[in-house]
Amino acid sequence: MTAKTLTITLPDDWHVHLRSGALLNAVLPFSARHFGRAIVMPNLQPPVVKTADALVYRQEIAAALPANSHFQPLMTLYLTEQTDPEDVKQGFLSGVVTAVKLYPAGATTNSAAGVKNIEAVYPVLEVMEAIGMPLLVHGEVVDPEVDIFDREAVFIEKKLQPLRVRFPKLKVVFEHLTTKDGVDYVKSCAQYTAATLTPHHLVINRNAMLVGGIKPHYYCLPVAKREIHRLALVEAATSGDARFFLGTDSAPHLDQAKLSACGCAGIFNVANTLSIVTQVFENNNALNQLERFTSYNGARFYGLPINQGQLVLERHNEPLPVPEALSLSQGSLTVFDPLMPVYWAVKQVITP
Ligand code: NCD
Ligand code: ZN
Repeated sequence: MTAKTLTITLPDDWHVHLRSGALLNAVLPFSARHFGRAIVMPNLQPPVVKTADALVYRQEIAAALPANSHFQPLMTLYLTEQTDPEDVKQGFLSGVVTAVKLYPAGATTNSAAGVKNIEAVYPVLEVMEAIGMPLLVHGEVVDPEVDIFDREAVFIEKKLQPLRVRFPKLKVVFEHLTTKDGVDYVKSCAQYTAATLTPHHLVINRNAMLVGGIKPHYYCLPVAKREIHRLALVEAATSGDARFFLGTDSAPHLDQAKLSACGCAGIFNVANTLSIVTQVFENNNALNQLERFTSYNGARFYGLPINQGQLVLERHNEPLPVPEALSLSQGSLTVFDPLMPVYWAVKQVITP
């Protein structure tokens, strides 16, 4: 019997943390192997706030790429209350910067310089709306009175909805959606709103993190929610709806930083993202929609061409082992274990 294979257009990753320095060198080959392009998050220390910073960071990434790599990093700027609309415009029009990321101040890793008062950035948003530049949103409120499991739903009502009304044609990507509320909201919007979904939020709920002992490798932001929310995310991803696409939110932290009394948020998953996502689609009888989610919907929303390359997946007869932790000189980096059997592996990448 010949092995079952599936060939899809080369995917893109619409949300990834590549970091810098040694960590960048360790994780970049995994992104470069399976993805044509990736939207690179700007939350370095210090953050990537100006077009000139994005240019420097893009050069660092280019220098770390394997020889002959086709991979294209798409750069983002970290929105602050001091961001200059003219710099954003020039960055976009010159092709250096693809999008701007909004982190509510304090919402997640390295977000202290984020936005406290959204009205302070209205001049930037006005320019972005006019030139068709996407705003990428970390959709959680940071109000200490709001329960961490409710922060996404409250963000929609208190922050996102008013923003949508004020800037109806601004392209907004609601990043790493984790709730049914978020799915329902995105579905209720017109064509200018979309969302990324991560592999981990498609397979785990909060039990993975909290049952049978606390499991830091399942801690990320936004935190995984109840099963009812995970099911809504899976439905959105596998439905073929053009507003939902893959953003891995692969966010590597060395194991020692995660396995701590105050562990870092983030899951490193690009080494097995495509295996896992393909398995999710197979488990939901939706392999025919996989390519839309991984390779079409995001490019269309961003107004970019579909990748020329292809990726061949092969279904094995036995479940595959979770990739081994990476061993860096500073310590180990654990790869996401989806806690379910995964039979699909990337067999080949065909570049044009
Ligand atoms: C991200 C990181 O570590 O940079 N962590 C995470 O859990 N996703 C930050 C983020 O995207 O919120
Ligand atoms: Zn992220």
